[in-house]
Amino acid sequence: MTNRRDFLKTSALALPGLTAFGRGPTNPESVHDAAMPEFKGIGDEDYWESIRRLYALIDTRTYMNTGGLGPVPLEVLERFRQLTSDLQMQSETGHDLIEQAREPVATFLGAKPSEIAFIRNATEGNSAIASGTRLHPGDEVIIDASAHPGGAIPWLNQIKASGIVIKLFEPNTEDSDIILDRIGALITSKTKVIQVSHVTAPTGILLPVARIAELAHSKNCWFHVDGAQSAGMIPVHLGNLRCDSFATSGHKWLGAMHGTGVLYIREDRLDEIVPSEIGAYSDSVYHLPDTFEYIPTARRHESGTRNAPLVDSVRNACSFLGQIGLQRVRERGLELTQVLRTGLESIPSIEIISPSNIELRSSILTFRSSTQSYSKLVDILAKEFHFRLRVVTEQDLNAIRVSLHVFNTLEQVDRLVEGIRKAVSNG
Ligand SMILES: Cc1ncc(COP(=O)(O)O)c(C=O)c1O
Repeated sequence: MTNRRDFLKTSALALPGLTAFGRGPTNPESVHDAAMPEFKGIGDEDYWESIRRLYALIDTRTYMNTGGLGPVPLEVLERFRQLTSDLQMQSETGHDLIEQAREPVATFLGAKPSEIAFIRNATEGNSAIASGTRLHPGDEVIIDASAHPGGAIPWLNQIKASGIVIKLFEPNTEDSDIILDRIGALITSKTKVIQVSHVTAPTGILLPVARIAELAHSKNCWFHVDGAQSAGMIPVHLGNLRCDSFATSGHKWLGAMHGTGVLYIREDRLDEIVPSEIGAYSDSVYHLPDTFEYIPTARRHESGTRNAPLVDSVRNACSFLGQIGLQRVRERGLELTQVLRTGLESIPSIEIISPSNIELRSSILTFRSSTQSYSKLVDILAKEFHFRLRVVTEQDLNAIRVSLHVFNTLEQVDRLVEGIRKAVSNG
């Protein structure tokens, strides 16, 4: 079986057109060097305007829904197109690209290359943990009440599959001590897993995951983080977070192609998760009828033929954001949401339901109006003002979510505030 892997490696490297990866004009770093503007400091709106132009987005509408799906930088899209076409025309998988992506993507997330698997979306990673944890009837799993279906349903499935019990905590929007207390109050001797959204999808609460990790481990619980809304929005260093596992989408804040994601499992706990999807490439050795060993890394969760250009796009998207710098991305998100917050606070009928406590804030801001229904308001903002936002019907919030990333500008936020002002005044 080792031969099969070696063959793939050398055969793909030998392909004409593929040998230039990392060196030729499609090298992501060299494209960045040419296109990435220079940041002159806080208030440099020209810089952010230039960043906006590096994204593949139509300009007939203003996109503020990265929490749902993130656009890709043009160069990420272009390289994906080129690779896809090269590989299809040569009828090769390009599987070596997956290994080439592992180290840079792991480093970007503060993980070791052996700790990550490339998956299709965050849901797949959450499912791998939920179905791979050895649970028994009556075992308890604590999750946040604001969990996205992609984080919650894998556990709901375990009620059917393993007879587990799910307990919910409501993430408080203002005080991380209250969040810790609420989780702590649910823990019993039967609690085996705690899972939280790193940033909650409905209202963008940034949960204190490092502190929750400490609590979970003090009670011998597995700690899984659904990071669909955090990777690419804030600096994420998985080693420092001390979670046991983490799943994220590539196609949201990271800005990779649709159908991408990363699953992280801490090296020393890898064997505690039984892989549920497994096959070629998951093994280090196998012989029929009875010999099989897992590959000793998280890569055991990848199996079968993969779309290598998709995985390559995750690497390039991380490289692109890395050029801006995740701290700057984080600060920009806070700046944009603060300007939006200040604007909305000047409109009497608007209620902001995302955290005001700066520690718990993210690049997502959710609001509702007392004079206009959320559905009508979002409709007016789409049809008359050409904004792409998202309604939040979860937990009966009946609100509107605004996600602001590096390609959004202060001018767009000002326009949104004025659009909302006009729309609610006609309510
Ligand atoms: C917290 C959270 N988890 C999981 C998902 C599902 O992500 P994916 O479509 O990549 O599976 C989302 C999507 O919005 C989310 O916000």
